Formats: sequence, structure tokens, C-alpha cells
Amino acid sequence: MADHEKRVAARAAAELVEDKMSVGLGTGTTVAYFVPALAARRLDVRCAVTSPHTETLARGAGLRVERFSTVDRLDIAVDGADEVAPDGWLVKGGGGAHTREKLVASAADRFVVIVDSSKLVHALRPPVPLELLAFGLASTVRRIEAIGPVRRRDAARSPDRGVIYDYLGAVDDPRRLADALCGIPGVVEHGLFPPEMVTEVVVGRGGSAERLRPGGDGR
Ligand code: A5P
Repeated sequence: MADHEKRVAARAAAELVEDKMSVGLGTGTTVAYFVPALAARRLDVRCAVTSPHTETLARGAGLRVERFSTVDRLDIAVDGADEVAPDGWLVKGGGGAHTREKLVASAADRFVVIVDSSKLVHALRPPVPLELLAFGLASTVRRIEAIGPVRRRDAARSPDRGVIYDYLGAVDDPRRLADALCGIPGVVEHGLFPPEMVTEVVVGRGGSAERLRPGGDGR
């Protein structure tokens, strides 16, 4: 069922893309449905990708991929999420790609999140993915542990050589936690995405797609 709902959400989001747009492509199994759905529309679009895996998918589907280092804004970005709270906060980074995903989402006029219905939660819960700089890693981890427990993930480094950890403490107040994590030198990025970054969430539920604007008007 989850796979079917992911496909439904991905196809609905592909309809939001228009000819000549610049499009940010996230990472994950839901985006893996979005890429062919977008390619099938045969629009003239330019894409920025958030991972080598998505780049392979996009190029394989015939989409034009541009280096994100030369792109200063995007019309739209589409990505999955691990958790979506009612107030629009997200947890992302199950695939360890949250740093690039946040950069691409932030560059987009519209950030559209695509999920199956199991991703809707009443309140965010751990783990919250972290990308940490390898330099000074032990002292960075010690400072995070002053906030809550953290564990190194058994995963490859990010494409930017960051080390992937998971924060395992409570996520009762996501903004406060996000601010605290951002305040620690060596934390490259965390997987908490605030509602003001999210334009809308497209949820696959059964055979239909629901469009939510949990953060209000969004952008
Ligand atoms: C990748 O790092 C993540 O942020 C994904 O976007 C997130 O984990 C959702 O992945 P799925 O679409 O595979 O559930």
C-alpha cells in the first residue's frame, strides 16, 4: 500500500511542474516515483539533484541535470519526508541526504513534499538525522550529547564527506531543538525542516492524492 500511495503522490506532484521550470529533485523511494512521472510529461525542464542516486535516476529518465553550484534559485523542489507533523514540521534524512535536500528546498520558490499516508504523525519523534563535519567529530558529539543521546549511523559518508549520525532524544519542541543543533559548530545540518520552508504536502491516501498546506499560506 505504501508504494502505491507514494506513486499516487508522486504523479500528482509531477502535474504541478510546468514547462521551462527549474526543478529540484530530492532523494528517496518516493522521489524515485516522481522522477519517471516528471520525465513522462516531456516538459522542457532543468533539474538540480540532491544525491548521486537521484542524478543517476534523472539522467536515466532523460531529464536535464544542472550543477546546483551554478543555480541560484529554483521554481519548485519536490522531495519525500520521513515524518510530517500536523503543524508542518518535517523530519528528513532517512537516506542521509538532508543537507543537500535542505539547500535545494531553500532555493525553491515552492517546496512540495510527497509522502504516503504512513508519514503523517501526531508529533515528531526521533531519530533526527544529523550530518557532522569529520574534523572535531568527538567534541561535536560531546556537545550534542549535552542536549540528548546521539548515535553514529552505519552508513557511508555524505557526498560532501559529512558523517551521518542520528539524534535520539525527544523532539517535543522542534524549533528549540533545531536552534540548539544549529548552534553547535561541526553540525553541518540536521533533518528538521520548518513549516515555513514547506509550500505544500501531497499525501497519497489509497488511490487519491490529498494536498495539505500545514504551514498556512507557505511560500
Ligand atoms: C533522504 O535523505 C530523505 O530525506 C528522504 O527524503 C526521506 O527519508 C523519505 O524517503 P522515502 O521517500 O524513501 O520514504
